[in-house]
Amino acid sequence: MKLRLISGIQPTGKLHIGNYVGALKNFVDLQNAGKFETLFFIADLHSMTEGFEPKEKTKQIEDVALSYLAAGLNPKKSTIFLQSDIPAHAELAWILGTITPFGELGRMTQFKDKSEVSPGNINVGLFTYPILMAADIILYDVKFVPVGDDQVQHLELTRTLARKFNARFGKTFAEPQPLLTKIPRLMSIDDPLKKMSKSRPEGCIFLDDEPRVIREKIKRAVTDSGREIVCDPVNKPAVSNLLLLFSSVSGVPIDELERRYSGRGYAEFKSDLAEAVVSELAPFQKKKRELKKKKDAVKTMLAAGKKKAEKIAEKKLAEIRRKTGIFR
Ligand code: AMP
Ligand code: TRP
Repeated sequence: MKLRLISGIQPTGKLHIGNYVGALKNFVDLQNAGKFETLFFIADLHSMTEGFEPKEKTKQIEDVALSYLAAGLNPKKSTIFLQSDIPAHAELAWILGTITPFGELGRMTQFKDKSEVSPGNINVGLFTYPILMAADIILYDVKFVPVGDDQVQHLELTRTLARKFNARFGKTFAEPQPLLTKIPRLMSIDDPLKKMSKSRPEGCIFLDDEPRVIREKIKRAVTDSGREIVCDPVNKPAVSNLLLLFSSVSGVPIDELERRYSGRGYAEFKSDLAEAVVSELAPFQKKKRELKKKKDAVKTMLAAGKKKAEKIAEKKLAEIRRKTGIFR
Protein backbone atom coordinates (compact mmCIF):
# COMPACT_ATOMS: atom_id res chain seq x y z
CA MET A 1 0.00 0.00 0.00
CA LYS A 2 1.23 3.49 -0.83
CA LEU A 3 2.14 5.79 2.05
CA ARG A 4 -0.32 8.62 2.39
CA LEU A 5 0.66 12.27 2.73
CA ILE A 6 -1.24 15.52 3.07
CA SER A 7 -0.53 19.23 2.95
CA GLY A 8 -2.39 22.49 2.59
CA ILE A 9 -1.83 26.13 1.81
CA GLN A 10 -3.86 29.03 3.15
CA PRO A 11 -5.66 31.24 0.64
CA THR A 12 -4.47 34.54 2.06
CA GLY A 13 -2.30 36.59 -0.25
CA LYS A 14 -0.39 35.87 -3.40
CA LEU A 15 1.90 32.83 -3.31
CA HIS A 16 5.62 33.62 -3.38
CA ILE A 17 8.67 31.73 -4.49
CA GLY A 18 9.31 30.65 -0.85
CA ASN A 19 5.97 28.81 -0.89
CA TYR A 20 7.05 27.31 -4.18
CA VAL A 21 10.53 26.02 -3.33
CA GLY A 22 9.57 25.14 0.25
CA ALA A 23 6.23 23.49 -0.44
CA LEU A 24 4.35 23.60 -3.76
CA LYS A 25 7.14 22.36 -6.03
CA ASN A 26 7.69 19.50 -3.60
CA PHE A 27 3.97 18.66 -3.62
CA VAL A 28 4.22 18.12 -7.36
CA ASP A 29 7.41 16.04 -7.13
CA LEU A 30 5.90 13.85 -4.42
CA GLN A 31 2.71 13.41 -6.42
CA ASN A 32 4.71 12.33 -9.45
CA ALA A 33 7.12 10.07 -7.56
CA GLY A 34 4.44 7.37 -7.63
CA LYS A 35 5.31 6.18 -4.12
CA PHE A 36 2.66 8.11 -2.24
CA GLU A 37 -1.05 8.60 -2.07
CA THR A 38 -1.23 12.39 -2.09
CA LEU A 39 -3.86 14.72 -0.66
CA PHE A 40 -3.65 18.50 -0.99
CA PHE A 41 -6.19 20.97 0.25
CA ILE A 42 -6.86 24.68 0.47
CA ALA A 43 -6.87 25.74 4.12
CA ASP A 44 -9.73 28.23 3.85
CA LEU A 45 -10.86 27.86 7.47
CA HIS A 46 -7.36 28.59 8.71
CA SER A 47 -7.17 31.68 6.53
CA MET A 48 -10.22 33.17 8.26
CA THR A 49 -8.02 33.94 11.29
CA GLU A 50 -6.68 36.94 9.36
CA GLY A 51 -8.96 39.82 8.44
CA PHE A 52 -10.60 39.49 5.01
CA GLU A 53 -13.34 40.63 2.65
CA PRO A 54 -15.76 37.82 1.70
CA LYS A 55 -15.55 38.56 -2.04
CA GLU A 56 -11.79 38.71 -1.89
CA LYS A 57 -11.70 35.39 -0.02
CA THR A 58 -13.55 33.60 -2.82
CA LYS A 59 -10.99 34.92 -5.28
CA GLN A 60 -8.08 33.88 -3.08
CA ILE A 61 -9.43 30.35 -2.79
CA GLU A 62 -9.77 30.17 -6.55
CA ASP A 63 -6.27 31.52 -6.97
CA VAL A 64 -4.67 28.84 -4.80
CA ALA A 65 -6.69 26.19 -6.65
CA LEU A 66 -5.43 27.56 -9.98
CA SER A 67 -1.87 27.67 -8.64
CA TYR A 68 -2.11 24.04 -7.56
CA LEU A 69 -3.20 23.03 -11.05
CA ALA A 70 -0.75 25.31 -12.84
CA ALA A 71 2.17 24.00 -10.78
CA GLY A 72 1.31 20.47 -11.88
CA LEU A 73 -0.95 19.00 -9.24
CA ASN A 74 -3.25 16.68 -11.06
CA PRO A 75 -6.72 15.69 -9.82
CA LYS A 76 -6.26 12.31 -11.49
CA LYS A 77 -3.23 11.61 -9.32
CA SER A 78 -3.97 13.56 -6.13
CA THR A 79 -7.01 14.28 -4.03
CA ILE A 80 -7.33 18.06 -4.16
CA PHE A 81 -10.03 19.60 -1.99
CA LEU A 82 -11.29 22.53 0.04
CA GLN A 83 -10.91 22.20 3.81
CA SER A 84 -14.38 23.62 4.56
CA ASP A 85 -15.96 21.03 2.26
CA ILE A 86 -15.12 18.38 4.85
CA PRO A 87 -16.83 19.29 8.15
CA ALA A 88 -15.04 16.42 9.91
CA HIS A 89 -11.95 18.66 10.16
CA ALA A 90 -13.82 21.12 12.36
CA GLU A 91 -15.45 18.41 14.46
CA LEU A 92 -12.18 16.63 15.12
CA ALA A 93 -10.56 19.98 15.93
CA TRP A 94 -13.15 20.50 18.65
CA ILE A 95 -12.49 17.06 20.11
CA LEU A 96 -8.72 17.55 20.00
CA GLY A 97 -9.17 20.92 21.70
CA THR A 98 -10.43 19.11 24.77
CA ILE A 99 -7.10 17.31 25.17
CA THR A 100 -4.83 20.22 24.18
CA PRO A 101 -2.94 21.91 27.01
CA PHE A 102 -3.55 25.67 26.90
CA GLY A 103 0.11 26.40 27.60
CA GLU A 104 1.34 24.49 24.54
CA LEU A 105 -0.63 26.76 22.21
CA GLY A 106 0.79 29.90 23.79
CA ARG A 107 4.28 28.69 22.91
CA MET A 108 3.61 28.44 19.18
CA THR A 109 5.94 30.74 17.26
CA GLN A 110 3.43 31.41 14.48
CA PHE A 111 0.84 32.53 17.06
CA LYS A 112 3.36 34.83 18.71
CA ASP A 113 4.53 36.26 15.37
CA LYS A 114 1.04 36.84 14.02
CA SER A 115 -0.10 38.42 17.29
CA GLU A 116 2.82 40.79 17.04
CA VAL A 117 2.11 41.70 13.40
CA SER A 118 -1.62 42.27 14.05
CA PRO A 119 -2.06 43.25 17.69
CA GLY A 120 -5.58 44.44 16.87
CA ASN A 121 -6.69 40.99 15.71
CA ILE A 122 -5.50 38.39 18.21
CA ASN A 123 -8.56 36.20 17.88
CA VAL A 124 -9.15 32.82 19.50
CA GLY A 125 -8.95 31.17 16.07
CA LEU A 126 -5.38 32.33 15.74
CA PHE A 127 -4.65 30.67 19.06
CA THR A 128 -6.39 27.37 18.31
CA TYR A 129 -5.10 27.33 14.71
CA PRO A 130 -2.63 24.45 15.36
CA ILE A 131 -5.44 22.22 16.71
CA LEU A 132 -7.34 22.53 13.44
CA MET A 133 -4.11 21.84 11.59
CA ALA A 134 -3.59 18.69 13.68
CA ALA A 135 -7.14 17.60 12.82
CA ASP A 136 -6.52 18.24 9.08
CA ILE A 137 -3.62 15.82 9.26
CA ILE A 138 -4.50 12.97 11.60
CA LEU A 139 -8.00 12.61 10.18
CA TYR A 140 -6.36 11.04 7.13
CA ASP A 141 -3.87 8.70 8.88
CA VAL A 142 -0.99 10.18 6.94
CA LYS A 143 2.65 9.28 7.36
CA PHE A 144 4.11 12.52 5.97
CA VAL A 145 3.33 16.23 5.73
CA PRO A 146 5.39 18.22 3.19
CA VAL A 147 5.73 21.76 4.57
CA GLY A 148 8.23 24.54 5.12
CA ASP A 149 10.24 24.83 8.29
CA ASP A 150 7.78 27.26 9.94
CA GLN A 151 5.25 24.44 10.28
CA VAL A 152 7.51 21.95 12.05
CA GLN A 153 6.43 23.13 15.50
CA HIS A 154 2.79 22.62 14.56
CA LEU A 155 3.62 19.09 13.50
CA GLU A 156 5.23 18.38 16.84
CA LEU A 157 1.99 19.41 18.49
CA THR A 158 0.10 17.23 16.00
CA ARG A 159 2.11 14.20 17.09
CA THR A 160 1.61 15.06 20.76
CA LEU A 161 -2.16 15.26 20.26
CA ALA A 162 -2.27 11.99 18.29
CA ARG A 163 -0.32 10.28 21.07
CA LYS A 164 -2.52 11.75 23.79
CA PHE A 165 -5.70 10.72 22.03
CA ASN A 166 -4.36 7.22 21.43
CA ALA A 167 -3.31 6.84 25.06
CA ARG A 168 -6.70 7.96 26.29
CA PHE A 169 -9.07 6.30 23.83
CA GLY A 170 -7.06 3.50 22.22
CA LYS A 171 -4.89 3.46 19.09
CA THR A 172 -6.71 5.60 16.55
CA PHE A 173 -4.22 7.94 14.86
CA ALA A 174 -0.86 7.64 13.11
CA GLU A 175 1.92 10.08 14.10
CA PRO A 176 2.96 12.10 11.03
CA GLN A 177 6.42 13.40 10.17
CA PRO A 178 7.25 16.63 8.31
CA LEU A 179 8.89 16.33 4.90
CA LEU A 180 11.14 19.33 4.28
CA THR A 181 12.76 20.41 1.02
CA LYS A 182 16.35 21.55 0.67
CA ILE A 183 15.02 25.08 1.16
CA PRO A 184 12.62 24.78 4.06
CA ARG A 185 13.05 28.50 4.79
CA LEU A 186 13.77 30.85 1.91
CA MET A 187 14.74 34.26 3.22
CA SER A 188 13.56 37.65 1.92
CA ILE A 189 15.41 39.15 -1.01
CA ASP A 190 15.57 42.53 0.73
CA ASP A 191 16.67 41.16 4.12
CA PRO A 192 18.33 37.74 4.41
CA LEU A 193 17.62 37.60 8.14
CA LYS A 194 13.86 37.61 7.63
CA LYS A 195 11.84 34.73 6.21
CA MET A 196 10.21 35.44 2.87
CA SER A 197 6.62 35.99 3.91
CA LYS A 198 3.37 37.38 2.52
CA SER A 199 3.27 39.74 5.45
CA ARG A 200 6.38 41.50 4.03
CA PRO A 201 5.62 41.81 0.29
CA GLU A 202 8.72 43.98 -0.26
CA GLY A 203 10.89 40.89 0.35
CA CYS A 204 8.93 38.56 -1.94
CA ILE A 205 9.09 37.36 -5.50
CA PHE A 206 5.53 36.35 -6.29
CA LEU A 207 4.70 33.43 -8.56
CA ASP A 208 2.54 35.73 -10.66
CA ASP A 209 5.16 38.48 -11.02
CA GLU A 210 5.87 39.35 -14.64
CA PRO A 211 9.37 38.55 -15.96
CA ARG A 212 10.19 42.25 -16.01
CA VAL A 213 9.27 42.57 -12.32
CA ILE A 214 11.24 39.45 -11.38
CA ARG A 215 14.34 40.79 -13.17
CA GLU A 216 14.02 44.13 -11.41
CA LYS A 217 13.50 42.58 -8.00
CA ILE A 218 16.51 40.29 -8.33
CA LYS A 219 18.64 43.14 -9.59
CA ARG A 220 17.78 45.06 -6.43
CA ALA A 221 18.16 42.03 -4.12
CA VAL A 222 20.46 42.65 -1.17
CA THR A 223 23.92 41.08 -1.28
CA ASP A 224 26.75 40.84 1.24
CA SER A 225 30.04 42.63 1.51
CA GLY A 226 32.87 41.09 -0.51
CA ARG A 227 32.60 39.85 -4.06
CA GLU A 228 32.81 36.07 -3.68
CA ILE A 229 29.79 34.02 -4.60
CA VAL A 230 29.92 31.23 -2.02
CA CYS A 231 27.40 29.51 0.19
CA ASP A 232 28.23 30.58 3.73
CA PRO A 233 24.96 31.25 5.55
CA VAL A 234 26.67 32.76 8.63
CA ASN A 235 28.96 35.27 6.94
CA LYS A 236 27.14 35.65 3.64
CA PRO A 237 23.46 35.14 4.35
CA ALA A 238 22.17 37.10 1.35
CA VAL A 239 24.30 35.44 -1.33
CA SER A 240 23.75 32.02 0.26
CA ASN A 241 20.01 32.56 0.06
CA LEU A 242 20.24 33.54 -3.62
CA LEU A 243 22.45 30.51 -4.32
CA LEU A 244 19.89 28.21 -2.69
CA LEU A 245 17.14 29.73 -4.76
CA PHE A 246 19.23 29.44 -7.93
CA SER A 247 20.01 25.81 -7.22
CA SER A 248 16.39 24.99 -6.50
CA VAL A 249 14.94 26.55 -9.65
CA SER A 250 17.74 25.39 -11.98
CA GLY A 251 18.50 21.97 -10.51
CA VAL A 252 22.23 22.83 -10.60
CA PRO A 253 24.01 21.84 -7.34
CA ILE A 254 25.30 24.68 -5.15
CA ASP A 255 28.98 23.72 -5.47
CA GLU A 256 28.72 23.77 -9.23
CA LEU A 257 27.14 27.23 -9.11
CA GLU A 258 29.95 28.39 -6.82
CA ARG A 259 32.49 27.13 -9.33
CA ARG A 260 30.64 28.63 -12.25
CA TYR A 261 30.52 32.11 -10.69
CA SER A 262 33.92 32.10 -9.04
CA GLY A 263 35.71 35.33 -10.03
CA ARG A 264 32.61 36.74 -11.69
CA GLY A 265 30.60 39.60 -10.25
CA TYR A 266 27.20 39.84 -8.62
CA ALA A 267 25.71 41.48 -11.70
CA GLU A 268 26.24 38.46 -13.93
CA PHE A 269 25.18 36.07 -11.18
CA LYS A 270 21.98 37.98 -10.54
CA SER A 271 21.15 38.30 -14.18
CA ASP A 272 21.49 34.52 -14.68
CA LEU A 273 19.52 33.85 -11.50
CA ALA A 274 16.72 36.09 -12.77
CA GLU A 275 16.60 34.16 -16.05
CA ALA A 276 16.51 30.85 -14.15
CA VAL A 277 13.59 32.05 -12.02
CA VAL A 278 11.77 33.49 -15.03
CA SER A 279 12.11 30.28 -17.02
CA GLU A 280 11.08 28.09 -14.08
CA LEU A 281 7.93 30.16 -13.62
CA ALA A 282 7.09 30.66 -17.31
CA PRO A 283 5.20 27.35 -17.79
CA PHE A 284 3.40 27.88 -14.47
CA GLN A 285 2.29 31.37 -15.45
CA LYS A 286 1.23 30.30 -18.92
CA LYS A 287 -0.81 27.39 -17.60
CA LYS A 288 -2.44 29.58 -14.99
CA ARG A 289 -3.50 32.09 -17.63
CA GLU A 290 -5.02 29.29 -19.71
CA LEU A 291 -6.80 27.74 -16.73
CA LYS A 292 -8.34 31.07 -15.80
CA LYS A 293 -10.26 30.96 -19.05
CA LYS A 294 -11.67 27.51 -18.30
CA LYS A 295 -14.52 28.50 -16.06
CA ASP A 296 -15.26 25.13 -14.50
CA ALA A 297 -11.77 23.69 -14.03
CA VAL A 298 -11.58 24.61 -10.35
CA LYS A 299 -15.16 23.66 -9.50
CA THR A 300 -14.82 20.28 -11.16
CA MET A 301 -11.54 19.57 -9.44
CA LEU A 302 -12.83 20.52 -5.99
CA ALA A 303 -16.05 18.55 -6.40
CA ALA A 304 -14.09 15.41 -7.30
CA GLY A 305 -11.63 16.01 -4.44
CA LYS A 306 -14.44 16.48 -1.96
CA LYS A 307 -15.90 13.10 -2.83
CA LYS A 308 -12.59 11.32 -2.36
CA ALA A 309 -11.59 13.11 0.85
CA GLU A 310 -15.07 12.68 2.34
CA LYS A 311 -14.84 8.92 2.06
CA ILE A 312 -11.68 8.74 4.15
CA ALA A 313 -12.74 11.44 6.61
CA GLU A 314 -16.23 10.09 7.31
CA LYS A 315 -14.88 6.63 8.03
CA LYS A 316 -12.31 7.99 10.43
CA LEU A 317 -14.82 10.24 12.12
CA ALA A 318 -17.12 7.27 12.76
CA GLU A 319 -14.18 5.52 14.41
CA ILE A 320 -13.42 8.61 16.54
CA ARG A 321 -17.03 8.86 17.64
CA ARG A 322 -17.06 5.17 18.55
CA LYS A 323 -13.81 5.38 20.48
CA THR A 324 -14.80 8.44 22.50
CA GLY A 325 -18.13 6.86 23.33
CA ILE A 326 -20.05 10.10 23.46
CA PHE A 327 -21.53 9.98 19.99
CA ARG A 328 -23.96 7.49 18.53
P1 AMP B 1 1.25 29.54 3.87
O1 AMP B 1 1.22 30.46 2.74
O2 AMP B 1 1.66 30.15 5.17
O3 AMP B 1 0.00 28.68 3.96
O4 AMP B 1 2.45 28.54 3.54
C1 AMP B 1 2.34 27.55 2.56
C2 AMP B 1 3.54 26.64 2.61
O5 AMP B 1 4.73 27.34 2.22
C3 AMP B 1 3.85 26.08 4.01
O6 AMP B 1 4.23 24.72 3.88
C4 AMP B 1 4.98 26.91 4.50
O7 AMP B 1 5.78 26.24 5.44
C5 AMP B 1 5.75 27.17 3.20
N1 AMP B 1 6.53 28.42 3.28
C6 AMP B 1 6.06 29.66 3.58
N2 AMP B 1 7.06 30.57 3.54
C7 AMP B 1 8.19 29.89 3.21
C8 AMP B 1 9.57 30.28 3.01
N3 AMP B 1 9.95 31.54 3.15
N4 AMP B 1 10.44 29.32 2.68
C9 AMP B 1 10.05 28.04 2.54
N5 AMP B 1 8.78 27.61 2.71
C10 AMP B 1 7.86 28.51 3.04
N1 TRP C 1 -0.53 26.06 8.67
C1 TRP C 1 -0.14 25.84 7.30
C2 TRP C 1 0.59 27.12 6.80
O1 TRP C 1 0.41 28.18 7.31
C3 TRP C 1 -1.29 25.52 6.41
C4 TRP C 1 -1.95 24.26 6.86
C5 TRP C 1 -3.16 24.15 7.48
C6 TRP C 1 -1.42 22.95 6.72
N2 TRP C 1 -3.42 22.83 7.73
C7 TRP C 1 -2.39 22.07 7.30
C8 TRP C 1 -0.26 22.43 6.18
C9 TRP C 1 -2.18 20.69 7.33
C10 TRP C 1 -0.06 21.04 6.22
C11 TRP C 1 -1.02 20.18 6.79
O2 TRP C 1 1.31 27.01 5.88
